Amino acid sequence: MRLTGAVVLVTGASSGIGAAVVRRLALAGSQVVAAGRDTNRLARLAAETGATTLPADLSRPNAGRELAEQALARYTRVDVLVNNAGVGWAGPFAGMADSLADELLAVNLRAPIELTRALLPGMCHRGGHLVFVGSIAGRLGVGGEAVYAASKAGLDAFAQSLRLELTSRRVAVSTVVPGVVDTPFFARRGQPYRRRRPRPLPPDRVADAIADAIVRDRAEVYVPRWLRVPVAVRGLLPAVYRRLASRFG
Ligand SMILES: NC(=O)c1ccc[n+]([C@@H]2O[C@H](COP(=O)([O-])OP(=O)(O)OC[C@H]3O[C@@H](n4cnc5c(N)ncnc54)[C@H](OP(=O)(O)O)[C@@H]3O)[C@@H](O)[C@H]2O)c1
Repeated sequence: MRLTGAVVLVTGASSGIGAAVVRRLALAGSQVVAAGRDTNRLARLAAETGATTLPADLSRPNAGRELAEQALARYTRVDVLVNNAGVGWAGPFAGMADSLADELLAVNLRAPIELTRALLPGMCHRGGHLVFVGSIAGRLGVGGEAVYAASKAGLDAFAQSLRLELTSRRVAVSTVVPGVVDTPFFARRGQPYRRRRPRPLPPDRVADAIADAIVRDRAEVYVPRWLRVPVAVRGLLPAVYRRLASRFG
């Protein structure tokens, strides 16, 4: 799909990867609708890029559907949906509050399903593109991030299943799988990223990959690309992968 003139709804646009996506797509001539909770940061982004903003708390039931309806009311169509909003939590699963688990599942999985359900009929009619920002945690599993990894694995399965279902329609589906990205994500989840390697990538790298996935209709993009190696090892040699993972984390 051409980015110029496309109406693109980006969730999680007020920070990190989402804000980088808004800047990248606005530069390419898209009409960007930037959704998030923090209205001050959204207003600054709108002043910088010309994007329209739609504040929404996606942890609330039906918030995804309502956000989609507001975007359609403003533009009558959404050509591209970038399901990027996400929240993490790290710590022993036994100590995780129910409310936090509910929030992760609502923002990371339920809201993208709601948004997709609301926007898909129009896309099937005119053509469109669905982008899902997953995580390497959803592909491999990560100790101390069980619910986050589960929410991203669910998002992955949703996206892959939709891709199979929509082959005869005019709707493309892309899954973008980032590794470690330099955003406020880690501070906000309550546990900073402390490892020396892999080094966090700038969010612009993920934004470029998302733009490329839309233009070239890429089904799956790892950022960085080498991340497909541990995923392949886990698929082909699961016992070897488990030994390596327990040694190197
Ligand atoms: N950073 C990484 O290393 C990394 C790695 C793999 C995957 N990812 C994924 O990349 C995506 C973007 O994360 P990021 O790194 O850019 O983190 P971030 O800087 O913390 O941004 C998260 C975004 O999600 C929004 N969000 C969170 N809770 C929300 C809610 N209840 N309702 C509406 N919006 C909500 C935030 O909005 P407000 O700021 O307005 O609350 C913010 O715009 C997430 O899906 C994350 O899981 C990140």
